[in-house]
Amino acid sequence: MKDYYAARAREYDKIYLKPERQQDLRALEAWLPAKFPQRSMIEIAAGTGYWTQFLIKSVQSLVALDAANETFQVARSRLGVQADQVNWVIGDAYDIPQPVTPYDGAFAGFWFSHVPISRQREFLTGLNKVLTPGATVVLLDNLYVEGSSTPISELDDEGNSYQVRLLSDGSQHCVLKNFPTETHMCELIEGLGKQPLFTRWQYFWAFEYTVV
Ligand SMILES: C[S@@+](CC[C@H](N)C(=O)[O-])C[C@H]1O[C@@H](n2cnc3c(N)ncnc32)[C@H](O)[C@@H]1O
Repeated sequence: MKDYYAARAREYDKIYLKPERQQDLRALEAWLPAKFPQRSMIEIAAGTGYWTQFLIKSVQSLVALDAANETFQVARSRLGVQADQVNWVIGDAYDIPQPVTPYDGAFAGFWFSHVPISRQREFLTGLNKVLTPGATVVLLDNLYVEGSSTPISELDDEGNSYQVRLLSDGSQHCVLKNFPTETHMCELIEGLGKQPLFTRWQYFWAFEYTVV
């Protein structure tokens, strides 16, 4: 997964150019920053900074975490002078560095769908450890939409789904990509979060909750 995204860093943003998704994207670009006014927050798997560029406009401080330095190079050039307002941290989403003061907001865009079912609770528990009670968490990801999404190529015994992705250098990658339901997400945060809210757009879903 990390190697795939490091290899894909320069062409990752093509997904944000799909014509049919533009209306949803404009709506999300306005919706997301409003969730984190003046928050001290962490963005998990920030990648090439597509969402960082909108979040930085509303937060008080922002730590962007990702495993691949290659994606941050793209992110920094996207944000221009605003890149200096972000604390770019190379690290592991399953082992998030403990901040001096816990964050009061967390966002992960298009990351949760890549977390294997067996590690979803581990990821959310680890995330809670760096957040203060009352913190807002937003996970944003893809709905599976026939004709727009890459077809699912296989399922494993645990129920994870996989897609075969092609990069422009001709290489093929089998990538874990899950499409969780609202019920699954609500069950997953038991004991970790309250006030769950699952929102659907035409191509995307978001799941938000407040840390207990
Ligand atoms: C699908 S991309 C999402 C990027 C960005 N959030 C966006 O929405 O455009 C997934 C990102 O997860 C990062 N990643 C993969 N494994 C990771 C890990 N264990 N910890 C942190 N980041 C990881 C990849 O480097 C990649 O940038």
